[in-house]
Amino acid sequence: MAKFTVEFGKTGTPPAPDGRLDGAAFHRNHDAIWSALSSFLLGRTGDVLEVASGTGQHSAEFARLAPNLTWWPSDIYPSHLASIEAWRRHAGLANLRAPQRIDLTDPAWSWTADGQAGAALSAMLCINVLHIAPWRVAQNLIAGAGRLLRDGGQLFVYGPFMRDGQHTAPSNAAFDASLRAENPDWGVRDLADLNALAQEAGLTAAEIAPMPANNLVLVFARAVRQN
Ligand SMILES: C[S@@+](CC[C@H](N)C(=O)[O-])C[C@H]1O[C@@H](n2cnc3c(N)ncnc32)[C@H](O)[C@@H]1O
Repeated sequence: MAKFTVEFGKTGTPPAPDGRLDGAAFHRNHDAIWSALSSFLLGRTGDVLEVASGTGQHSAEFARLAPNLTWWPSDIYPSHLASIEAWRRHAGLANLRAPQRIDLTDPAWSWTADGQAGAALSAMLCINVLHIAPWRVAQNLIAGAGRLLRDGGQLFVYGPFMRDGQHTAPSNAAFDASLRAENPDWGVRDLADLNALAQEAGLTAAEIAPMPANNLVLVFARAVRQN
């Protein structure tokens, strides 16, 4: 099992007594992320899988905002899975389901719904992961979206990205350098490289929603399968 980031709760805000962890970035980014997702998701039905959910706060918040969708959070760390479950209990939402362990370094990763193989997904969500993960995680995420999304379903990916080999801001270039110094397998990914993976996986090239602090939401859609 390869983990690719530090754990929440080791520094910063300690967990609540029930195990809920608090991610500082959640408070800065969830409104903006929802503003991009809502135009695609409001009024929709079906299942949404969040990978690498961390504390579980995004799934809990978005499940509240989109009650017609069923939200399935996931992660790899036991402490994060416990936090996601604690946020789920705290939220008390029928459309927010129990977290499951998904390892994005596994090329054959999949998801389950109450112990059964999950149905084709309406959407997938991946927030602040690809720059602190080896490239194979981007490969596995996008290939997984090609396998697991229903026709027309979307993969939403939030984070900092390069465009045409260029950073979009000096602060992103500095962040990229610090990531690569910490781990040479990490780094801010280029949109063109992600679009190439998307094409291989049967997804459209990304629609781009600009976010505060030089981040983007990328929206890849599963193209209609030809039999
Ligand atoms: C920077 S955090 C982002 C968490 C959350 N999406 C957010 O924005 O607050 C990266 C997440 O990736 C998870 N992770 C680490 N290794 C993983 C793996 N091999 N497969 C899936 N998730 C993993 C970590 O547990 C952590 O929750």
